Amino acid sequence: MATIEVEHLSKKFGTLTAVDDLTFKVSRGEVFGLLGPNGAGKTTTVRMLCCLISSSSGDARIAGYDITNKDDAMKIRKLTGIVHDDVGLYENLTAYENLLFYGRMYESPDSSVKRNIEKYLKMLDMWDRKDMPISSFSKGMKQKVAIARALVHDPEILFMDEPTANLDPEASKIIRETILSLKNEERTIFLNTHNLDEAQRICDRIGVLKTRMIAVDTPANLEMAVAGKKTNIVLDNVNEGILKAVRSLKPLSLEVEGNTLVLELSDPAKETPALVTSIAAAGGKIRTVNETGASLEDVYLKLVKE
Ligand SMILES: Nc1ncnc2c1ncn2[C@@H]1O[C@H](COP(=O)(O)OP(=O)(O)OP(=O)(O)O)[C@@H](O)[C@H]1O
Ligand SMILES: [Mg+2]
Repeated sequence: MATIEVEHLSKKFGTLTAVDDLTFKVSRGEVFGLLGPNGAGKTTTVRMLCCLISSSSGDARIAGYDITNKDDAMKIRKLTGIVHDDVGLYENLTAYENLLFYGRMYESPDSSVKRNIEKYLKMLDMWDRKDMPISSFSKGMKQKVAIARALVHDPEILFMDEPTANLDPEASKIIRETILSLKNEERTIFLNTHNLDEAQRICDRIGVLKTRMIAVDTPANLEMAVAGKKTNIVLDNVNEGILKAVRSLKPLSLEVEGNTLVLELSDPAKETPALVTSIAAAGGKIRTVNETGASLEDVYLKLVKE
């Protein structure tokens, strides 16, 4: 079931079109990544979907509620959490005090807010710092508290605007793991990021935005669609029997370059083991198997330049 449904959504600031005619859906429990260059409209999109700014035209439903309806907007705010691109915490309050303050703002019961504060500060490895003021925290620590803040009221849908920008690899990893455990709880994550490696690792699907939505698909399909990954199998020797065995597995394409078979497969991770087995059964001696072709970075750069 789609939990975010966007239809022809646009935003203009004066004469500038920041977001133009977006239509896409995100399912419950999905990690959806939005990639795009600076100024592409990612933050604007998230702010519209969280009802923090109004749209200029089009529509979106969040868990069935309409972002353009004032009564629904309140419900959407309760159902969603947002990690802003700038953390915005009270510097003089401790981590715990900040979180309790925001939890109460959502009118959640204290007992569940306190339970969530403990759960998320522990998950983010910040529990032992809970009674220290935000002013004493590093950037990464503040970012973790901002993530906990977005979760204190138990939102179904979490919007994160570049949550790992400026974080060290270990902190980024903790945040990626947190995202995946939220996914396991059937929460939906909407992630704006410039980190392609991160997007590839944790996103079920990726949208490439440049004012308009250029493409939406799984990382693997984006790679395939734009440049096509190749699987290269280097053999001691190629003969008709081996080629026949390979063709019987119906690769999308097969070329022979010397002793190397260059194949396009629809799902290399699934098909490669069967290929290796049947080549060996046909008497082929495999030296190496590797994949070449587009990385998500190649795909992204190509899409954004076009
Ligand atoms: N409040 C505003 N008033 C006027 N223009 C705005 C406003 N907010 C955003 N814009 C413009 O809208 C466009 C999209 O900005 P947005 O912040 O959504 O981009 P972004 O994809 O989040 O970029 P970044 O990767 O740099 O965070 C930009 O041209 C920006 O200047
Ligand atoms: Mg932004």
